[in-house]
Amino acid sequence: MMRFRSLLLVPVLAMGLVACQQQKQKEAYTEEVEALLSKMTLREKIGQLNLLDGSWQAERLENDIRDGQVGSVLNCSGEMANRLQRVAVEESELGIPLLFGRDVIHGYKTIFPIPLGQAASFNDELVEAASRIAAVEATADGIRHTYTPMIDVTRDPRWGRIAESLGEDAYLTSRLGVAMIKGLQGEELNAPTSLAACAKHFAAYGMSQGGRDYNIADISQETLHDYILPPFKAAADAGCATFMTSFNEINGMPASANKYLFNDLLRGEWGWNGMVVSDYYSIEQLKVQAFCETLDEAAIHSINAGVDLDMMSHVYWPLLEELVKTGKVKESVLDNAVRNVLRLKFQLGLFENPYCDTTRTAVFYAQDHLETAKRLATESVVLLKNEEQVLPLTDNVQSIAVIGPMANAPVEQLGTWCFDAEPSHCVTPLRALTAECGERVKVNYAAGLAYSRDESETEIAAAVAAARRSDVVLLFVGEEAILSGEAKCRADLSLPGAQSKLIDEVAKSGKPMVLVVMAGRPLTIGAEIDKCDGVLYAFHGGTMAGPALSDLIFGRVNPSGKLPVTFPKMVGQVPIYYNQKLTGRPAGDDAVLLKDIPVEAKQTSLGFSSYWLEVGYKPLYPFGYGLSYTTFEYNKIQVSNPVLSKNGSIEVWCEVKNTGTREGQEVVQLYVQDVAGSSTRPCRELKGFQKVTIAPGETQTVSFTITPDMLAFYHAADGKSYAEPGSFNVWIASSSDTGLESHFMLEE
Ligand code: BGC
Repeated sequence: MMRFRSLLLVPVLAMGLVACQQQKQKEAYTEEVEALLSKMTLREKIGQLNLLDGSWQAERLENDIRDGQVGSVLNCSGEMANRLQRVAVEESELGIPLLFGRDVIHGYKTIFPIPLGQAASFNDELVEAASRIAAVEATADGIRHTYTPMIDVTRDPRWGRIAESLGEDAYLTSRLGVAMIKGLQGEELNAPTSLAACAKHFAAYGMSQGGRDYNIADISQETLHDYILPPFKAAADAGCATFMTSFNEINGMPASANKYLFNDLLRGEWGWNGMVVSDYYSIEQLKVQAFCETLDEAAIHSINAGVDLDMMSHVYWPLLEELVKTGKVKESVLDNAVRNVLRLKFQLGLFENPYCDTTRTAVFYAQDHLETAKRLATESVVLLKNEEQVLPLTDNVQSIAVIGPMANAPVEQLGTWCFDAEPSHCVTPLRALTAECGERVKVNYAAGLAYSRDESETEIAAAVAAARRSDVVLLFVGEEAILSGEAKCRADLSLPGAQSKLIDEVAKSGKPMVLVVMAGRPLTIGAEIDKCDGVLYAFHGGTMAGPALSDLIFGRVNPSGKLPVTFPKMVGQVPIYYNQKLTGRPAGDDAVLLKDIPVEAKQTSLGFSSYWLEVGYKPLYPFGYGLSYTTFEYNKIQVSNPVLSKNGSIEVWCEVKNTGTREGQEVVQLYVQDVAGSSTRPCRELKGFQKVTIAPGETQTVSFTITPDMLAFYHAADGKSYAEPGSFNVWIASSSDTGLESHFMLEE
């Protein structure tokens, strides 16, 4: 240990100043890394590539750490992390500090909405603020690396990890993914509250066939380059410190052995120089995937592909030693991986400050953290329906029935992936509504069902009775947290348990009814929605979901969320997404449905167009959709110049007027369509959005800039992305199926 300490501290002290430190962070610590590397034995190098799980072997780890066999630990925090760190720094030969990693997916102690919910906010600043808070809290417990954000674009609500995603659109995912990275990493990585972010899962994990987790991705090069990779490119450009491999294969090549993705594209073409971590066991799984016959082969493939850290496969350690000694893996390849790990440790300032200051845990659940959690939870809710302006509740309402298994379920409102959350800190809708109502409004609570999958109908009668005693019914349904997330895929997207029955029975009370859906994914609830007057889709809103919903229900805040993903009517429509390619035979509204087909109808009688007999061609709700308590009118779209020169830019703008009586936020969306291309183009693609606040009666002009690079698409013939000259349609819209339309030409 002493050997290394003196080596490091002398130059650092000589420079002295904090400004120098920051400068050095940008310089990537080449000298320090090389000096340290030159002192390492082969075994010590391999040890730095070994990432082990401390949650079930922390005690056992001490010996391995002392022996230099472990470089990073996941799932270990606080005092235990400090204890292991002391072993690494004070008792191992080189004293290289450990890097502690954890899945801080949507908050650490203060839990924010699931990422899919955050995406519905279309609010980069707020998403960044939430990630900053997550970093402040997690670093107080010694965590300096988090496996977030998950920027896998997905078009499949059956896939459980859609909850962790930012939805179906590459542009939205890129913007919010970058916001998360900025929030997590802060201004400088070496600040004690900075968390190294991890763009995952590289790549195409969200394209798991059939929406079944870990399944293969069999996709075109076009889909890969135009929809899957752009968020990762944005993450690399934003300085995301690390990337994670994905479990799946892409067209026959497992991601964890994918040299093209990591070496050629990420590090080569994109010029990124961070650290790549495998997914949990994913190197070992190369064997199970029928890609490698032996674990030796798995190690060779992964290290050569540019995967630096082996998370729990126990393959790099111990197999790389022999593989390097026998020349099967070049030591130069190993050295590069070690450089990437050491550089990150220097950048994080771990050599100067290896320990966490556990007194900082006083920041958990700080008031401003809870305020931000509430704001983000509020902006994550999408108002899907509001007939007769049932919402917000007015002063005339004197009693409300609060019904449903999600009304008072703290664990469930937290959503997937929150290892460190304490449900006791959650404020449920029931608690928040009861506090809001006070003596003024009577709250009649009856869960009706104990949990979302509950099939027993015995308590439904009590719920109906509560509805009958009340002026308005608030019905909280959805999915428990355990039904979405990793390996939680569903083949059926209906409400689980007897929840539909509960809705049916309560609807018979004839009272105005508002459905509040708390779920990890889109659900096929068209029939249930038909029975309700109002619907708030709240995803899993986290610690402050209750107060957020109470504010929306009572109109303290106006809903502003928009759907980050298309909602299907039936699971058989999946995949259904807004930026689809056009068929040669688009269906119209005259498409004949199954129920209307005459018996013995002639083969040709239905026409030949592209739709499903049960549900037509439209989704239940399109991407970008969401209502407000006020109304917005879009007028007068204009383009600054009908011709966009190949190095120039044009502006497109329109007026957005608040035609209602209350202030509201509107997500104004920019869509573009290339009218014809050398490969067919999608019907429209999101290229910009702005969330604006508009006072009642006020009109604002919302303007977007369009440049040729925004119109680029992948050309398989030469492997390059560029725009093609020709005609373009452009819309400024409040959702992906509406909008004011204009046109421009891209010049030769
Ligand atoms: C998941 C990753 C996660 C890792 C560590 C894996 O199963 O796919 O997203 O970061 O576990 O918990």
